[in-house]
Amino acid sequence: MVALATEQQQKREKTELVLSNIYNLPVMPKPLEDALGLLETSAVSIPSLSAVISKDQGLVTKILTIANSPLYGLQRKVTSIDFAIMVLGFNELKNIILVLSLVESFKNKTDKYLDQKEFWLHSYLTGCAAKRIAEDLDFPNEGEAFVAGFLHDMGISVIHKYFHSKFIEIYENVTEKNIGFNETEFEVLGMNHQEIGSYLVERWSFPEILCEAILNHHNPEASSVNKVLPSIIHLADYMTKKLNIGNFYWDKDIELNIIEMETLRFRTEEEINHFIQSYEELFIHQAKSVRYLS
Ligand SMILES: [Fe+2]
Ligand SMILES: [Fe+2]
Repeated sequence: MVALATEQQQKREKTELVLSNIYNLPVMPKPLEDALGLLETSAVSIPSLSAVISKDQGLVTKILTIANSPLYGLQRKVTSIDFAIMVLGFNELKNIILVLSLVESFKNKTDKYLDQKEFWLHSYLTGCAAKRIAEDLDFPNEGEAFVAGFLHDMGISVIHKYFHSKFIEIYENVTEKNIGFNETEFEVLGMNHQEIGSYLVERWSFPEILCEAILNHHNPEASSVNKVLPSIIHLADYMTKKLNIGNFYWDKDIELNIIEMETLRFRTEEEINHFIQSYEELFIHQAKSVRYLS
């Protein structure tokens, strides 16, 4: 037993060593880097930001698609980047550019183990749904909900990109032995994808509330700083499985933590199921818009 614990600890230390080398933000596409840099300065203005973003038509399409997506919930249709900046404001736009940068930076090539399109759809749906849930249930922090929802499974793309042989080992162990992903991640890497994602965002000095939401998106009850945000991400993540839209095979074992849903002021299971079902149409429309983003 002691030997097993030591072995796991050694695996964890090895994984942390690789992670510590990637804690500086990986190289991201220039327009994203420029836009984020500009947003950090006091010189930022609608024309200057618009000029930087417009250099990359792919980025323009992504921002407009997110801003117009049904779950994102803007009241007005946004057709130009100038108008998007005006309606969203610098903070919200910064969140969108931030998640796009990180998702882009960790993107690896699609292979038979991870389909990048499928992963993108899952992140996109969970991020937008988390924002919408926070708004609908009248909780503040919808900006953090969007970022944490979009990045909740970031650890999975990190494993695929930086620990590729381990990714294959995890995938094969799960499919051959029919055991859960989380258990296998821990066995192979000494850490699970929640810990990997939160380890990185912590190193990048993201707010504690975001790190905790990423760390506990499968078990919001473990949170100590704030249980609301992890519970929202947990619910949004579960919705993709329950509604069977944008669900991701890595989440095949997740079950909704009913008790923790009290944190979100749900009183009965029926109430939660009704709430989840009320999102079905939005999920369908949102999933349709994703083809423009991949
Ligand atoms: Fe996850
Ligand atoms: Fe997920």
